[in-house]
Amino acid sequence: MGGLVAASTLELGSNELPRIKKKKGIIVKSKLLLVYDEENIVQQMRWALETDYHVLTALNESEAAATFQREKPQVVILDLSHSQTPTAPGGLRLLDQLLEQEPSTRIIVVTAHNDDANALQAVRLGAFDYYSKPIVLDEIKGIIRRAFRFHQLHQRLQPINSISGQGFHCLIGISKGMQEIYRFIDRVALSDISVLICGESGTGKELVAHAIHQRSPRRDNPFIVVNCGAIPEALLEGELFGHEEGAFTGAFGQKKGKLELANTGTIFLDEIGELSPPIQVKLLRFLQDRKIERVGGTQQIDLDVRIIAATNRDLKKDMENHLFREDLYCRLKIIPLTIPPLRERTEDILPLAQHFLKKYCREQRKPLISLSPEAESKLLSYPWPENVRQLENLINRAILLTPDSVLYPSVLGFGLDQAANDVNLKHAKKVIEIEYVQRALLRNKGIVSRAARDLGISRVNLYELMGKHAINSDEFKTPNLRPQRQHVRPTGSISKT
Ligand SMILES: Nc1ncnc2c1ncn2[C@@H]1O[C@H](COP(=O)(O)OP(=O)(O)OP(=O)(O)O)[C@@H](O)[C@H]1O
Ligand SMILES: [Mg+2]
Repeated sequence: MGGLVAASTLELGSNELPRIKKKKGIIVKSKLLLVYDEENIVQQMRWALETDYHVLTALNESEAAATFQREKPQVVILDLSHSQTPTAPGGLRLLDQLLEQEPSTRIIVVTAHNDDANALQAVRLGAFDYYSKPIVLDEIKGIIRRAFRFHQLHQRLQPINSISGQGFHCLIGISKGMQEIYRFIDRVALSDISVLICGESGTGKELVAHAIHQRSPRRDNPFIVVNCGAIPEALLEGELFGHEEGAFTGAFGQKKGKLELANTGTIFLDEIGELSPPIQVKLLRFLQDRKIERVGGTQQIDLDVRIIAATNRDLKKDMENHLFREDLYCRLKIIPLTIPPLRERTEDILPLAQHFLKKYCREQRKPLISLSPEAESKLLSYPWPENVRQLENLINRAILLTPDSVLYPSVLGFGLDQAANDVNLKHAKKVIEIEYVQRALLRNKGIVSRAARDLGISRVNLYELMGKHAINSDEFKTPNLRPQRQHVRPTGSISKT
């Protein structure tokens, strides 16, 4: 049966020593439980691993559960390749049960070759990593080492904050979709698996990647962002992998690449769909053996970097069109996450708007500005084709433009001919005209001649402007009455695109 293809002697690096603790002079090894139903494989693994770990074994679920309860191993290797049939999801059930008892346990699942569905499900349930058969001992030993290190780090970390609806790191959102994303982040943060974040532009992919890093034991180490689409193809290889002196024209001196700079931390590869085929090959090689060679170099450099990638393209389609390598896709989509567009989680619009109001009022040193009820309902019904980024830009701009302490739809660009995402000068001029006319009329209690004087224009000009923007001076005549939204009659509406 499928199993160990390469038994090798164990040569421990110095980074492995901390997991062997000394207690009153006696060496206590960390505990590793192997749950495998093939006795010969269990034997081979035991021989290969017992120098370094206290290896416990179990041949079936009930034996595994009993040993787990008694011994509390820090790391478990769980073979899912045999117990998985649609009617007997024993391995996954065991995984769930063990994690419920001891959530800090790092469980590495072993799946049959190309069994993505089970691997994915296992990671969703909280597995630390997965490994597809056949097992290459050196590779799985690397994963085991990482699992023990993560367990140790996790013990030292502060207890993880509970999920709050209003904020999760820098993420705002109370919708069901966002709550699921928070849960996903918590799960995958504890594992060390590559993540592929999909979603339309402006949905918050980079923020989610950062939150995963922040929740993971790598959080005190670097988080490096590379926008693969923004770097010219000729430079990207050097950017990612670094170069030696003289590797190419202009390569003065040795330079470390972003992967090397991210060592012990996380690298976020944004717009991964833009990678050229040769760089895809190099990245795949790195994902397989976690080693790089700088451009023009010969030395292999071992790296411990977690990959989080993002795309707003349909990578599956790119793969079918041979623009994206299937093997790289399979490596990356180990655990995919799709962030829903803002229009599908309208409950998040107002909390996000409030968040940006606070943020930009603070930044622009203005007292806190609020939204009028009409502005709120406009924000709620707009389809946000550019998602959260668009909402953020809109609020930022409105705070700049408004002289009031309340934002009305007009200053947000609603009620005008242009859509809310219009950033052209003509649109800005309209918004400013409306705001200044309203303000002058308000200050002068609806007396047009005085308002015109304040504005530095003639009465005739002001009447023209009032006509153009459907502003009625009578409505400003009551003392202390703030202009209402109705003062600006909508001249157009924002249509769903
Ligand atoms: N849930 C959120 N809470 C707070 N801010 C958010 C949220 N989602 C997105 N943002 C903000 O929206 C802007 C866009 O987010 P981000 O850059 O993460 O999007 P993206 O999906 O990576 O976009 P692109 O595909 O264009 O690179 C950022 O300024 C970010 O801070
Ligand atoms: Mg981005």
